[in-house]
Amino acid sequence: MKVLVIGAGNMGLTYAEGMAKSSFLNHRNLMIFDKSAEIITTLSKVDHFDVYDDIEECLPKADIVFLAVKPYHCDALFEEIKPLVNDQQIFVSLMAGITIDKIQQGLGVKKVVRSMPNLPAQVGKGVTSFTEAKEISRVELLMVRNLLDTTGASIHVETEKFIDASTGISGSGPAYVFYFMNSMMEAALKMGFSKNDSKVLVSQTFEGAVKLFNDSDLSPSTWMDRVASKGGTTRAALDSMDDNNIEELIKDAAYAAFDRAVELGKE
Ligand SMILES: NC(=O)c1ccc[n+]([C@@H]2O[C@H](COP(=O)([O-])OP(=O)(O)OC[C@H]3O[C@@H](n4cnc5c(N)ncnc54)[C@H](OP(=O)(O)O)[C@@H]3O)[C@@H](O)[C@H]2O)c1
Repeated sequence: MKVLVIGAGNMGLTYAEGMAKSSFLNHRNLMIFDKSAEIITTLSKVDHFDVYDDIEECLPKADIVFLAVKPYHCDALFEEIKPLVNDQQIFVSLMAGITIDKIQQGLGVKKVVRSMPNLPAQVGKGVTSFTEAKEISRVELLMVRNLLDTTGASIHVETEKFIDASTGISGSGPAYVFYFMNSMMEAALKMGFSKNDSKVLVSQTFEGAVKLFNDSDLSPSTWMDRVASKGGTTRAALDSMDDNNIEELIKDAAYAAFDRAVELGKE
C-alpha cells in the first residue's frame, strides 16, 4: 500500500510524520508532495518519506491520497490532479468544510473519506473524526483508520453533520483550552506570580486534571464536586462561574464554531 500526502503544511506534515513513525506503514511507501519549492528543499533533507515536486510522478503510484491543502485551495488542486487520478484510489480529506460530494464531483472519483483532525496531532495526541462515502469498503475504512490513528485517537461518525459538529468540539477545541489557560495565567500574574511560575501552575493543573479524568470513570461534574467543599474556595470560584453563566457561554461558543463549519461548507 502506497500513501501520498498532498500539502506539506501543518497538518499534512503532521500526518506524514505520524505515519512515518508508525509500524503500520513502511516509510518507503510514504510520499509527500507540495507545490512550494522551499518546502520541498527542506523536506528533501529528511529521510522519513519520499518527497516529490512533480505530482505526475507520485499521484499515479498512490493507493491512498491525503488531501491536506487549505480549503480555499481545493478547487485549484482538483483541477490540477483530476486528469491523474483513478477510481480505485482512496482520497482522505483533512480539509475543513469540504464535503464528500464536492470532492467526488471535483475529482470524478467515488472513494472518499472526510475527516476532521485537531492540532494536538502534532504531538501524537490528536483526535480525528471521520466518515466515508458509501463506496468505501469496511476493509478500506479500517486501513484509513489505522493511518489516522498514527497521530492519536479517532472516532468514526455516521454522517458529515458530525464532522462539522466535531469541528466545534475537538477541531477548534484546543483554542478553547488555551483561552482558559490564558485567563488562568493572567489571574496568576495579577496575583504576583512570575511568568514561569504561572505557566507551571496552570499547565500542571490542566495535565493533572486530565489525567485524573482519564484514569477514572467519573464525570467532570463529579470531579468538580470532589474538589469543591461547601463554603470553600473552589465553591466560591464555581459559584462565580455559574453566576456569570459561563457554562452556557462555552456551549454557545462551540455552537458558533459548528455553525461556521456548516457555513464554510456551503461557500
Ligand atoms: N491547522 C489545523 O489546526 C487544522 C485543524 C483541522 C483541520 N485542518 C485542515 O487541514 C488542512 C491543511 O491545513 P494546514 O494548517 O496544514 O495548512 P497549511 O499549513 O497552509 O498547509 C497547506 C500546504 O499545502 C500547500 N498547497 C497549496 N495548494 C497546493 C497544491 N495545489 N498542491 C500541493 N500543495 C499545495 C501549501 O502551499 P502554500 O503555502 O504555498 O499555499 C502549504 O504548504 C486545511 O484544509 C485545514 O482545514 C487544519
